Amino acid sequence: MASVPHITLNNGVEIPQFGFGTWQIPPEDAQARVAEALEVGYRHIDTAQMYGNEEGVGAAIAAAGLAPEDVFVTSKLNNNNHAPERVGASLDESLQRLGLERLDLFLIHWPLPTIDIDYVDTWKAMEEVYRSGKTRAIGVSNFNAHHLRRLLDETEVVPAVNQIEVHPFFAQDDLRAVNAEHGIATEAWSPLAQGQILSNPAVTQIAEAIGRAPSQVALRWHLQRGDIVFPKASSIERVRQNFDVFDFELSDADMGSISALDEGRRIGPDPDTFDYIPA
Ligand SMILES: NC(=O)c1ccc[n+]([C@@H]2O[C@H](COP(=O)([O-])OP(=O)(O)OC[C@H]3O[C@@H](n4cnc5c(N)ncnc54)[C@H](OP(=O)(O)O)[C@@H]3O)[C@@H](O)[C@H]2O)c1
Repeated sequence: MASVPHITLNNGVEIPQFGFGTWQIPPEDAQARVAEALEVGYRHIDTAQMYGNEEGVGAAIAAAGLAPEDVFVTSKLNNNNHAPERVGASLDESLQRLGLERLDLFLIHWPLPTIDIDYVDTWKAMEEVYRSGKTRAIGVSNFNAHHLRRLLDETEVVPAVNQIEVHPFFAQDDLRAVNAEHGIATEAWSPLAQGQILSNPAVTQIAEAIGRAPSQVALRWHLQRGDIVFPKASSIERVRQNFDVFDFELSDADMGSISALDEGRRIGPDPDTFDYIPA
């Protein structure tokens, strides 16, 4: 099986373009699911403080006997940790749960522009933890262009990534272009549109024509556009199927047919209004 390409972030750190997503994997299942992904060959795990499953992710990495430098681990600052004085402490708590000495990538999960803590101040605290060496890179998630603009104007470290909702129904070409213009890599969350893309006729017709699964077709579309992806799946068969995407390419015509599905339709919340704070 061909290997996973790497993308070089704006600070020189390399990230595998393909990983395993862990949202909605319950804490009690996380170790087993992540162990399966590691066994299949995934070397990039996307978790978050909000997912409640960092212990399981860390236990799977430890049990696999992999060196920390062999697995790229991302976590995200929870929405109740935006206060600048909570940022460093909450990263320490994540590291403890994960059993790691440092993270590869730490993200502000949501900008929360309607709460009374300014995400620019939160980002300045993220810059501090980056300088402390406890994470190899920092970035943001769910930042629109106007949120990024404020970070670029008012702070020093340019985010290494912006992790945003992207799938064929919501291609986000404008925001991806803004990211690229500033050297910010785009990570595409819900790359399979939480499963909704898998029954789309354009995708299933291509899949049938080239003898591949619909999930593989959708994931190839992302990879060929340059998105970093980490699909989530709950069985080792699906985990394996999703990973088996490095020995074929979609034609320009097939890429175009999938790009034509863009209807500007979000599945997840709008970052301009999302203000969920966990208890
Ligand atoms: N930053 C953010 O705000 C944010 C938000 C959402 C997601 N994320 C990240 O992005 C990751 C991926 O997004 P996601 O989990 O929302 O959705 P996704 O990866 O687009 O889709 C996952 C869904 O597709 C199904 N699926 C996966 N592979 C399949 C296959 N080969 N055949 C058939 N069905 C398949 C899964 O079913 P089963 O699970 O039943 O197998 C699950 O229902 C998350 O896990 C998380 O790490 C980040």
